[in-house]
Amino acid sequence: MPGKRFRVLMLGDIVGQPGYRAVLTSVAKLVKQYSADFITINAENAADGFGVTEEIASELFASGFHVLTTGNHVWQRKEAYSYLDSEERILRPANYPGGNPGHGTCVVEAKGVRVGVINLQGRVRMPTTDCPFRKGKEVIRKLKDGTDLLLVEFHAEAPHEKEALAWHIDGQVAAVVCTHTHVQTADERVLPKGTAYISDLGACAPRDSVIGFDPGISVERMKTQLPLRNSPADTPGVIHGAFIEVDLESGHALSIERVREESLV
Ligand SMILES: [Fe+2]
Repeated sequence: MPGKRFRVLMLGDIVGQPGYRAVLTSVAKLVKQYSADFITINAENAADGFGVTEEIASELFASGFHVLTTGNHVWQRKEAYSYLDSEERILRPANYPGGNPGHGTCVVEAKGVRVGVINLQGRVRMPTTDCPFRKGKEVIRKLKDGTDLLLVEFHAEAPHEKEALAWHIDGQVAAVVCTHTHVQTADERVLPKGTAYISDLGACAPRDSVIGFDPGISVERMKTQLPLRNSPADTPGVIHGAFIEVDLESGHALSIERVREESLV
């Protein structure tokens, strides 16, 4: 497929009902606006701010998403474990123990293009998992031959770990986009060997919030250091992510730009 472009939208962590509502009401418009061929979103906090359920995942697929990624909060809804095993298009980080529910990679065809998606998780200030650098290379080797392009979502906390992973696999995947910190970064660029990168996609979350959660509770938590339970803020949502154009001949990124969409709901 020489010279053909493939357009990918990758959206950040959904937080709570406002984020979820904003995504459902805006996804068709975004796909049209960007002429997107493929769209992913991180759903680990879609269920009221904690975890994901089969019902929510099914609704996201029905609204047009090709693949759902997750992270450390994917384990919070035990009732979703069997769904994680049975639904290929929802991922959990590949570097958790192999016997855990679900799987860390998938290949989904869209418009005749075989897209491999890889979900990895960082280890700096995160739960202890296998090395994402070694696991990343391992799964890339496995997926390379049966795919036209590869996308990596790296769910991680520390920018230095995120950038290092992207440089480690630069040229082997079309994109490394990161999630988990919920605040969109302004460092998007294509690395020298052709991998698009951004340190955080940002969240699809209540706009007036502390990383998606109620500012009042967040301030109180900081002031008192009491283990107060966070609750998603109840304000209109804002959607964040990145738009990546991929050259199908090389499987490399041509460009990456930030996406930000204010929602009225
Ligand atoms: Fe997370």
